[in-house]
Formats: sequence, C-alpha cells, structure tokens
Amino acid sequence: MEKRQIQELIAAAVGQLAFAYVPYSRFRVGAALLAKNGRIYTGCNIENAAYSPTNCAERTAFFKAVSEGVREFSAICIVGGADGVLSGYTPPCGVCRQVMMEFCDPEEFQIILAVGPEDYQVFRLRELLPMGFGPANLQEH
Ligand code: THU
Repeated sequence: MEKRQIQELIAAAVGQLAFAYVPYSRFRVGAALLAKNGRIYTGCNIENAAYSPTNCAERTAFFKAVSEGVREFSAICIVGGADGVLSGYTPPCGVCRQVMMEFCDPEEFQIILAVGPEDYQVFRLRELLPMGFGPANLQEH
C-alpha cells in the first residue's frame, strides 16, 4: 500500500475520535476501513451503560459497510487513546479480529496500527489471528 493512502486512512481514523461515545472508559478509538471498491468506511467505539453491548470502532466500520452491501476489504486503520490522546498502538480486540476473519482474506488483509501520520505499523490479519477460524473451515470435510 502506498504511504499516501495509508496516511489518508490514518486521517480518517483520527477524525472518528471526536465521535467516539465513551462515557465509561473514556478510551476513544477510531477506525477507517478501506473497501476494495475504493470507498472508506469509518467507525468509532460506542459504549453502553450495560457494558457488554459496547461496539468497537472496527466493528462499527465493518457493519456500516456490510449493511450497505459491501463485503470486500483490503485494509483497516485503527487509532486510539485515553481521552483521545494517541500515545501507543491500539491493536484490535479478539472479537474484531474474528469479524475481520469473516470478510477478509487473512493473507491479504492489512491492519494498520497508527499513532500519527509518520508513526504506524502494518500487519496482515494472519499475523494477528494465527490459525483463525473462518468461512472456509465450514466448507472442509
Ligand atoms: N475498543 C475498540 O473500539 N477497539 C478495540 O479493538 C479495542 C477496544 C474500545 C472498546 C471500549 O469502548 C474501549 O475501547 C475500552 O475497551
């Protein structure tokens, strides 16, 4: 992926921090999901007083895209920090990795963890979810 495109995703993810609904953790997360059609779907985390209904930023982005008929993706960028201050990488939680596994080729899909436009690291889903269970497993006999 070109650096220019990575930086566009980082900016889109950072833009989501303002919308994060985080009255309980105060930990703001923003995500920007790049679909193969070139569109970017953004997401923020949305917390809940009952805690468990909380939706992570990554899943917000995925569900926005899938609910509009888009199911093919190439990359996601994630940023996060307490009170929206980016001080370290925010790796996706296990549930979000599993959602990625549902829609993405683990050898191809790229996960960009960023702190700023010049400070980021790119991983493949396979690295972050080794031996993940996905749709293909249900087709094997
Ligand atoms: N969170 C995300 O949005 N994405 C992740 O991958 C890690 C955790 C959110 C959930 C919750 O609102 C807050 O961060 C603290 O866990």
